[in-house]
Amino acid sequence: MQTPAPLDVDRAHLIHPLHHPSAHAGTRLWVSGTGAVITDSTGRDYIDGLSGLWNVNVGHGRQELADAARQQMATLAFHSSYAGGSNEKAIALAERLSRLTYPSINTFFFTSGGAEASETSFKTARFYWKALGKPEKIKVISRRRAYHGLTLAAMSATGLPAFWPMFEPRTPGFLHIDAPDPYRFVNTTPEVSLGVAAANALEDAILREGPDTVAAFIAEPIQGAGGVIIPPADYFARIREICTRHDVLFIADDVITGFGRTGRWFGLEHYGVEPDIMQFAKGITSGYVPLGGVGVSDTVRDVINGVPPGKRWMHAFTYSGHPTCCAVALSNLDIIERERLVERSAAGGARLLEKLRTLESLTAVGHVRGQGLIAAVEVVADKATKSLFPAEAGMTQKLTDAMLERGLYTRVALDCICIAPPLVTTDAQLDQIVDTVRDAITHVVGG
Ligand SMILES: Cc1ncc(COP(=O)(O)O)c(C=O)c1O
Repeated sequence: MQTPAPLDVDRAHLIHPLHHPSAHAGTRLWVSGTGAVITDSTGRDYIDGLSGLWNVNVGHGRQELADAARQQMATLAFHSSYAGGSNEKAIALAERLSRLTYPSINTFFFTSGGAEASETSFKTARFYWKALGKPEKIKVISRRRAYHGLTLAAMSATGLPAFWPMFEPRTPGFLHIDAPDPYRFVNTTPEVSLGVAAANALEDAILREGPDTVAAFIAEPIQGAGGVIIPPADYFARIREICTRHDVLFIADDVITGFGRTGRWFGLEHYGVEPDIMQFAKGITSGYVPLGGVGVSDTVRDVINGVPPGKRWMHAFTYSGHPTCCAVALSNLDIIERERLVERSAAGGARLLEKLRTLESLTAVGHVRGQGLIAAVEVVADKATKSLFPAEAGMTQKLTDAMLERGLYTRVALDCICIAPPLVTTDAQLDQIVDTVRDAITHVVGG
C-alpha cells in the first residue's frame, strides 16, 4: 500500500489554528530553517518575513538552543513549580528578567504562551483589588484591533471582532476603546494632540464605567496582529497618568514587542513609562519551545505576598516554570546579548523603514510604518478616503499568495502587510523583502 502524502494525512487528522479547509488548500509543508530563511518540502526557500509568528527572534537553526534543551531534558526535563518546589533554571530566568525588564518589574510567573499570560494578568488584577478591599474593580479595558490571545477572557480583550461571533458570549466586563492609530484615528478634540486624544478615550471609558469597577487597562506597546499600529510619542505617558489617577492597573502586553523586536528590549521603553504588570512570550525562547509569563511591579508583588494563606493567589499551570523551557530561554537571552540583536533590530529596522517608505508612491499604499524590525505596509482602495478594498476582493489572500510566489512568507492583517523578520536578517535580505512587497502589490493592485 502506498504511504499517503503528509498533507492528505494532515487534512484527515489535524485541526489548525483559525481552521477552515478552504484556507488550507495551497498548504506548504515547512521542513527546515536557517537564519531568516525557511524551506518547504519541495526544497524551495523563502524569507521568513514574520519570524514564524513574530517569535523566532534569533533566527532558525540555532544548535545552541537545541543543546540547551537536550542538556536540561537529560538532567531534569520537568518537575512541579507549585509553591513548595522550584528549579534552578526558572530561578535564574526570573532573576535575569528582573534586570532586563522595566525597573519596577522584578517578580515573574511563567506560563506556556501569550494567552495564558493574558489570563494571568487579568486574574492578578482582580486579585490585587480584592486583596485591597475593592472587590468591585473587575473590568478590563483594551483597544480595538488589539490581540491578546484566544482563550475566552483573552479573546474578550482582543479587539478584532472576527474572532468573536462563533464563540460568544464573551466574558462579561471586557470593553474596548479606539486604537491610537496615527493613520486612522479621528481626533475630535484638535486642541490636544492625536496621542493625547486617543489616550483620553481611556479616561472617558473609566469615568463612564465608574472607576470603582475598572481593574485594569491592557495594551500592546505596538499593536501587532491588528496591523502594526505604532502609537504617537505622547500616548503612553498620558495613559500612565490616567491609570494612576483612577487606580487602574496598566498591563503592557509585550508578547510581540519584547526581546528586541522594536529595537529596544521592551516596547514601552520607547515611551519612557512603566507598567504595573507586563506580559511576554514568543521571543523569550525565539519560539524554540513554548514559554510565556507575566512580571509584576513590586507593589503588586507585595500585595500577592501579603494576603493570609486562605486568600492566596490560587492560580497555576502545570508547565509554569518548566525547566527545559526556562533553560532554552536563558540560552536564547545569551544569543540576543552576545550578538547585540537589540541594536541590530534598531539598525536593520531603520534601513527597512527607509526603503519601505519608497512604496508610498504606489497608488494602493496608504501608509507605511515601522519601529525596529516590526513594520507594516497598509494597502488601500482609495488613498484620499483611506477606504479598504471590499472583502470580496480577497486582498488578504491575493497579497499573501503573491508574496509567497515570490519567496516571501508573511501575514496580511486588515490589508496591512505585516513585516517582522528575525533580528538576524541581513541588509540584503531586508532589501529583498521590500522588493518582493513592491512586486507583489504591483502585481495584485497595479503600480
Ligand atoms: C500581543 C499578543 N498577546 C498575546 C498573544 C497570544 O499568544 P499565544 O498565541 O501564545 O497564546 C499574542 C499572539 O500573537 C500576541 O501577539
